[in-house]
Amino acid sequence: MAEAGGAPVITVDGPSGSGKGTVSQRVAHALGWHLLDSGALYRVLALAARRAGVALDDEAALADLAGRLDVSFEERPGEEGVRVRLDGEDVTAELRSEACGEGASRVAALAAVREALLERQRAFRTPPGLVADGRDMGTVVFPDAPLKIYLTASADERARRRWRQLRAQGVEADLAALYREIAARDARDASRKVSPLRPAEDAVQIDTTGLTVDEVVERVLELAAARGLGAARAREKS
Ligand code: DC
Repeated sequence: MAEAGGAPVITVDGPSGSGKGTVSQRVAHALGWHLLDSGALYRVLALAARRAGVALDDEAALADLAGRLDVSFEERPGEEGVRVRLDGEDVTAELRSEACGEGASRVAALAAVREALLERQRAFRTPPGLVADGRDMGTVVFPDAPLKIYLTASADERARRRWRQLRAQGVEADLAALYREIAARDARDASRKVSPLRPAEDAVQIDTTGLTVDEVVERVLELAAARGLGAARAREKS
């Protein structure tokens, strides 16, 4: 089963602020596996659309753009996350902006866009394995993944995490406004007709409210080891 689609995959889904980005990076690093930040693909598309003057509700034009995107992900040992290039330009920092997040949430609601990005995401599944971070990794993109994780945290906690993250970057933010944005984005991601945000039936759910990143990573690695995933590397560490 683990090898059904090629290399093994661990899917990590959940709402924004649940910690899935950091947890996915750390798990991929610990196992020595590749990382797919699927949200970055939707963010890149929103950015490319803005640059090309394509409206964020023009489904056909966006799907066409999604199929032609010149995007590359560069994994850098020792560096957090991946560097993202659009038409050769490093857009990693710009992708984290609220404008790209907001645009990503809009284009991600369009069926033709999701379809156009499907094969691109599956192409990341290469040996020795892949940790795939997103909203529909376990339900749609990699339904045969041998381990599916669904992370949650209260909206309150997620707003506080985002606030602390922005503060650390020197950005002043209003906690109440962040809470409202997170709640609105959750509602849109969970209620859209295509690939709504929901746990796969066979996903292991972890509520990260009150847990440290280390504790969540540890739990995921234990689950992976129990399923015989990444055992060689785990043995090396002990
Ligand atoms: O995880 P993120 O904040 O980078 O995601 C940006 C947006 O893209 C978010 O509104 C949800 C959407 N998304 C999605 O619909 N499916 C995915 N697999 C990943 C992200």
